[in-house]
Amino acid sequence: LEQSRALNELVRGLAHEIKNPLGGLRGAAQLLESELADPALREYTSVIIEEADRLRALVDRLLGPSGLPRRERLNLHEVLEHVRTLVLAEGHLGLRIERDYDPSIPELEADRDALVQAVLNIVRNAVEALAGEGTIWLQTRTERQVTIGSVRHRLAASVRIIDNGPGVPEALRERLFVPLVTGRAQGTGLGLAIAQNLVGRHGGIIEFESRPGHTCFNLLLPLEAS
Ligand SMILES: Nc1ncnc2c1ncn2[C@@H]1O[C@H](COP(=O)(O)OP(=O)(O)OP(=O)(O)O)[C@@H](O)[C@H]1O
Ligand SMILES: [Mg+2]
Repeated sequence: LEQSRALNELVRGLAHEIKNPLGGLRGAAQLLESELADPALREYTSVIIEEADRLRALVDRLLGPSGLPRRERLNLHEVLEHVRTLVLAEGHLGLRIERDYDPSIPELEADRDALVQAVLNIVRNAVEALAGEGTIWLQTRTERQVTIGSVRHRLAASVRIIDNGPGVPEALRERLFVPLVTGRAQGTGLGLAIAQNLVGRHGGIIEFESRPGHTCFNLLLPLEAS
């Protein structure tokens, strides 16, 4: 945990250092573009600008959400239903998202946007692992006597996102939540690092277990400290 925090700091520091020169690079390419008469040459400057924008978006994700968390009383199932609607709206044929909610789960004091983002990152990973074909289960439970870090909680909410995909590649398991660790060609490896960070701000933690045909990410969110 300590090690990944240090790495997180390092990545954030680097991201910050990249931001300014990147802005200069983009500005200069734009100036150059306005001076170029030949459209064939302008194609090169637009590549520079587009790639600078892509890098900028990556850096913004590395820096994570800004601003203070806004805590409100919320219902976890409402958060899950929202994510479910968002993902289904993307129109993956052959994807089912089943729910198994514990209706007795108490409301929670939390930042809604942060929770939506964290759950969305995990559900998106499941969709990608399934390649659009399979089932995701959204499950909620309460757990008693949960220890997170060194803090013991009498009661915690558990949100489980389960899929029946191929499982997390063996080589990634140890470092899954470390920024930039990815198993996908188009992946940036930030989704889980961000999700862990957001849940951590609520005093919670994300755990996972995975084997072929069954991968479960468990978000533990404390409800009561003891
Ligand atoms: N449900 C899952 N099943 C199988 N592999 C998974 C699952 N969730 C995550 N992974 C693996 O963990 C890697 C890291 O996930 P993470 O969300 O951090 O980054 P990413 O999805 O690669 O990129 P990004 O989310 O930033 O676009 C993924 O690339 C994938 O290989
Ligand atoms: Mg991801």
